[in-house]
Amino acid sequence: MNKNILVSGGAGFIGSHVCKLLNQKGYTPIVIDNLSTGYKEFVKWGPLIKADIQDKKAVKDLIQKYEPIAAMNFASYINVGESVQNPSKYYVNNVANSTIFFETLVENNVKNVVFSSTAAVYGNPIQDKIDESHPYLPVNPYGQTKLMMEQILKDFSTAYNSKYVIFRYFNATGSDPELEIGESHYPETHLIPLVVDALQGRRESITVFGDDYDTADGTCVRDYIHVLDLAEAHVLGVEHLLAGKDSCIMNLGNGNGFSVSEVIDVVKKVSGKEIPVTSGSRRDGDPGTLVASSKLAKDILNWSPKITSLEDMVNPVIQWREKWFRKN
Ligand SMILES: NC(=O)c1ccc[n+]([C@@H]2O[C@H](COP(=O)([O-])OP(=O)(O)OC[C@H]3O[C@@H](n4cnc5c(N)ncnc54)[C@H](O)[C@@H]3O)[C@@H](O)[C@H]2O)c1
Repeated sequence: MNKNILVSGGAGFIGSHVCKLLNQKGYTPIVIDNLSTGYKEFVKWGPLIKADIQDKKAVKDLIQKYEPIAAMNFASYINVGESVQNPSKYYVNNVANSTIFFETLVENNVKNVVFSSTAAVYGNPIQDKIDESHPYLPVNPYGQTKLMMEQILKDFSTAYNSKYVIFRYFNATGSDPELEIGESHYPETHLIPLVVDALQGRRESITVFGDDYDTADGTCVRDYIHVLDLAEAHVLGVEHLLAGKDSCIMNLGNGNGFSVSEVIDVVKKVSGKEIPVTSGSRRDGDPGTLVASSKLAKDILNWSPKITSLEDMVNPVIQWREKWFRKN
């Protein structure tokens, strides 16, 4: 049987790490990416089709050529703040373009799909550890687009007999330990790479937004999940579907929260260097604490995160960004 898997957004941060693991597990990732925020250098383990996911002809042609047994969809815009400023950009790409993509998949008989959703579908938490039964109350258009796509995938499943595994990631971070690919976003808005940039002199300082939250040190607490753990969940997720099992929706998180101050302190500690820090006021819509329960992923896929210490998450990002910016 062919082991081709269609990966949209495979030139991005998470998609490229998943492609590397797919290849190690004997699959061939077939990447479709318009390179709007991804990097062609990140596509190393299978062909890159440079096209937009809403280009029905490009998607149909690649399905006919490679006959993928399943698809994974990472392609979307991901910047929460930008989604508030420019919601139309997010609804067009993350909902309209993604729906056309899924339509082309079912029309061409690709009926097993793994989809990247987000903790942003939950909005402000009403429980300590967020599980999948938490109410869906997204507080920004980005989270809303992902919630809409979840519903669309459910409706497609009912109508067209397709199946899905939807993963709601918390804060993805880390990098490939062999430094072939790593954490880079365009533009960069994620805390750990921004702290590393302040460490390595690519930005003047790191700003801490709010130090009066109801957390141990007053700064926001987030659940960081290593991209290699996410990649492992995706392989298990696609194999779950290929084994004929049911559609499901699962959180992927570490289960432990780390504060902004803890992240900065760990980067200082592992590098042995100071980092310039400035204080800012709270940002609208930033909850104090966001931590996942990933019990369901353990129950269904026997998945649990392996890289759980902050040191092990930030170290490869420090090394990767040093290497990446020396070359680029
Ligand atoms: N990074 C996180 O912490 C995080 C957390 C929760 C969910 N997610 C989700 O994970 C997925 C991957 O995120 P990432 O951090 O790797 O982002 P990324 O920006 O690095 O990757 C997204 C990729 O999709 C491509 N793309 C976007 N729109 C496209 C289109 N219309 N056609 C073709 N290609 C397109 C981009 O060029 C890029 O390569 C996204 O769906 C995101 O919403 C990420």
